[in-house]
Amino acid sequence: MVMEDIKGLRDGFLSDLKGLNTLRQLRDLKVRYLGKKGLLTQQLRSLSLLPKEERPGAGKEINELKRFVEEEIERLEAALSERDMGEKVASESLDITLPGKYIQPGTIHPVNQVLEEIIDIFTFMGFTAEEGPEVELDYYNFEALNIPKDHPARDMQDTFYVETGVGESTPGMKYTFESDVVLRTHTSPVQIRVMERRNPPFRVIAPGKVYRCDADVSHTPMFHQVEGLMVGEDITFAHLKGILEVFIHNLFGPDTPVRFRPSYFPFTEPSAEVDIGCILCGGQGCRVCKGTGWLEVLGSGMVHPRVFEAVNYDTEKYTGFAFGMGVERLTMLKYGIDDIRLFFENDLRFLKQF
Ligand code: DAH
Repeated sequence: MVMEDIKGLRDGFLSDLKGLNTLRQLRDLKVRYLGKKGLLTQQLRSLSLLPKEERPGAGKEINELKRFVEEEIERLEAALSERDMGEKVASESLDITLPGKYIQPGTIHPVNQVLEEIIDIFTFMGFTAEEGPEVELDYYNFEALNIPKDHPARDMQDTFYVETGVGESTPGMKYTFESDVVLRTHTSPVQIRVMERRNPPFRVIAPGKVYRCDADVSHTPMFHQVEGLMVGEDITFAHLKGILEVFIHNLFGPDTPVRFRPSYFPFTEPSAEVDIGCILCGGQGCRVCKGTGWLEVLGSGMVHPRVFEAVNYDTEKYTGFAFGMGVERLTMLKYGIDDIRLFFENDLRFLKQF
């Protein structure tokens, strides 16, 4: 009885196997015979219903059939997979005569181009680049640079204050709170951070992003500056003039007129602003230079003794000079661009010209 069942099962399996042509059908077949409620599984379970002496023989037969079924399914599975793969490869063709796809390469942003040029010029003169945080403490951005709390230079700089949870805004009230944390308004705080961890002599530049709450044709809330600082024994204003003249002649051309004009910054004394002869009118006077023939390109000066005191430098022993410049402004002057916002609109018609 059992033996006949097993033979019938085997014949049924073989004919099922013949009529089958896809991997999916094969998977269904596998479930039908070997699944949890499959035909062979049921047979094995029903063994317990047989008289004791018939069980070993029947068990052996069923297990043999089970192995046979497993092997057959495995073999057919391999054959069908291979066939499918072959068809897939055959259906895909590669025409090596087709032209390649053109991948449009990007270009370096004009502001970054000029930034890299500036860094290269100063690197050539022995300066190394340093970095500082963009989210900065009031102490580094102002206090240590000789800009105390009530100093008017703080208003000049339109500071973004960072909410630290100390003073919170009250709905319906004018937004006023005090914070020790700001988005740095210039790269000058890096001067302090560098001097805190280094001893003279050294010369460094600090390129990076700065933030001011201001927006029009020549101001954006974020822009780039490059700071410079050289400290040692016997560093004089002549060094400042020499370094900055070489810099300008490299960036704008060797025949560019340069002039140093007295100015004021809290962290330098004496201070000077540096002008170049107007590139657009050659010094004749035009709309860009407002008729003066000169364009202001950077601020500079001899490091104020108070700044050295903030970092515990011996003011009798060391002197130094510092400078700071706006990269967007220099880029605008270099290429005759009259609206700073063009740098941030990312219009390819503009960017492709550089
Ligand atoms: N920090 C100044 C600004 O953002 C620029 C500047 C002027 C930097 C004179 C200096 C300096 O290091 O000596 O307007």
